[in-house]
Amino acid sequence: MVERLFSRFGKDVERYYELDSRDGHPTMREKAGIWVRSPQLQAVAVFRFGVWVNANVHRWLLRFPLRVLYRFLNLLTFALWGVHIDDGADIGGGLYIGHPGGVLIGPVKMGSNCNVGNNVTIGRRSDGRGSGGTPTIGDSVWIGTGSVIFGGITVGDGVSIAPLTVVGRNIPPQALVAGNPMKVLRERYDNTIQIHGARVQATLVLSDTPKVNAPSSTTSTSNDNDEASFPS
Ligand SMILES: CC(C)(COP(=O)(O)OP(=O)(O)OC[C@H]1O[C@@H](n2cnc3c(N)ncnc32)[C@H](O)[C@@H]1OP(=O)(O)O)[C@@H](O)C(=O)NCCC(=O)NCCS
Repeated sequence: MVERLFSRFGKDVERYYELDSRDGHPTMREKAGIWVRSPQLQAVAVFRFGVWVNANVHRWLLRFPLRVLYRFLNLLTFALWGVHIDDGADIGGGLYIGHPGGVLIGPVKMGSNCNVGNNVTIGRRSDGRGSGGTPTIGDSVWIGTGSVIFGGITVGDGVSIAPLTVVGRNIPPQALVAGNPMKVLRERYDNTIQIHGARVQATLVLSDTPKVNAPSSTTSTSNDNDEASFPS
């Protein structure tokens, strides 16, 4: 369990190094810079710490001061940076919050490698319907700024939620949805670039470059959205 939590946080940090560094391989100095200028990463660290205390520290004498420390840090990151992630949330490794400010994540279940924009709220329905259910969100889901996701719904793997979308019903895997009322804009939308950044796409396109004698019909451009060019 301890190992799993640390590996999840390790993956969170890797996402920041991947997306926020110049070339994806930051030096120690660049890494320090990313920590300093990413208050949302500090908030993710506080969340992982809270989950770790809940799951692993059972002796009252140690648990009590650590819980007090967690509560204090959580209050601080919320007051200073406007980010709160409930310590009852079960979120896979590789959580990337793009910007601080107005990020409220309740006790949800979320997969790995998800991107969350600022001013995003994820939680229960306010009318109490659905016996207090909270969303279950898949892997590699991209959640645009200002969106609200609520209730005991399921958001499939690889879904992209455009900014300012109100999500109160299930979304099938890989769909691109937008608006209020929410509409499915595309049914099979590749969100690799949103999740991993344009640099990853460039790498994939380069590694896809055909060998000298290969037929030219197998080439792909950096702008196409052909799923054959990307890992699923
Ligand atoms: C969501 C996104 C990836 C979709 O890209 P796309 O597949 O190229 O689609 P488009 O942007 O061309 O939009 C397609 C249609 O959906 C509409 N649309 C896009 N986002 C929308 C939204 N949030 N709400 C409602 N409609 C939206 C567009 O107006 C367009 O409508 P039209 O065809 O009638 O002109 C892209 O719009 C995007 O990245 N938006 C987020 C930008 C953002 O948040 N930037 C800040 C980052 S910090």
